[in-house]
Amino acid sequence: MRFSAAALVAALPALSAAQENPLDQYIAQAQQILGQAASYIPSPNKYDAAAAEASKTGPMKLSVLAQHNWEDTLYAPVAAGAKTPEEWWILITGGNKTCFGRCDRLETAFQGAAAKFAELPTTPHMGVLNCDDQPILCNSWSANVGNIWAFHMLPKPAPVDIYKKRLNLTTVTTDEIVQLQEAGNKEDFVLLESFWHPFNGKAAELGLSIPLGYLLWVFNLVPQWAFMLIVSFASRSMMGNRAQQRAQQRAPAAAAPASK
Ligand SMILES: *[C@@H]1O[C@H](CO)[C@@H](O)[C@H](O)[C@H]1NC(C)=O
Ligand SMILES: *[C@@H]1O[C@H](CO)[C@@H](O)[C@H](O)[C@H]1NC(C)=O
Repeated sequence: MRFSAAALVAALPALSAAQENPLDQYIAQAQQILGQAASYIPSPNKYDAAAAEASKTGPMKLSVLAQHNWEDTLYAPVAAGAKTPEEWWILITGGNKTCFGRCDRLETAFQGAAAKFAELPTTPHMGVLNCDDQPILCNSWSANVGNIWAFHMLPKPAPVDIYKKRLNLTTVTTDEIVQLQEAGNKEDFVLLESFWHPFNGKAAELGLSIPLGYLLWVFNLVPQWAFMLIVSFASRSMMGNRAQQRAQQRAPAAAAPASK
């Protein structure tokens, strides 16, 4: 598996503890450094504006999510003061890189459902996030291909509930997806509760989602063995420094009897 988001969370205890501790200045620093680093990395994102517009206005009314438009897209149908959430279903999919070319059946099934939903009044808004095209956004959400994420959008700043449904790439059908909606509940879904939740998660709250998305993306480009090597060097040099400091603290006491 790829370098896990959980490992990064484990490496950021200071950040996840930020609520309890007044670490605001460190957070601000982290935001600045990570943000700056991210701005030097050439964007790996792909977004075809003409194709996205055609998809959105076409018979399937299928929006294409990207790093620059996902939030505006999801909030677009939400009326000010609305009390019932607008529901979006976003298909997390990928091509040869992130889905090993195995997401075609799922995409077709989802498009079939979108075409049906487009003709009905109380169905979810439909959208697609392709992790081959938008690796940073997928990493920043820790989103895995082969899932539908159902967003319940209320006007800002209300929290956003997201329910995840994993689909079987070899068996999924349009009917199965339509039935998930007809069930009228989220029994087959799992409520998303994660550090990486795009709206309510700690990373989003700290404004670090996108910088951390870049960081994870870079880590995923680095082979595992190279990464282990870096961690091992870093930890050894840190321990080395600490041992040195301890030796220095002890030195005067140790030196005293020896001089007699
Ligand atoms: C994905 O891989 C298949 C088989 O290797 C190839 O035929 C196809 O063109 C690739 N698709 C993309 C979008 O690169
Ligand atoms: C998908 O469905 C097939 C056929 O029922 C099954 O053999 C396979 O284990 C399923 N895959 C997953 C990931 O559940």
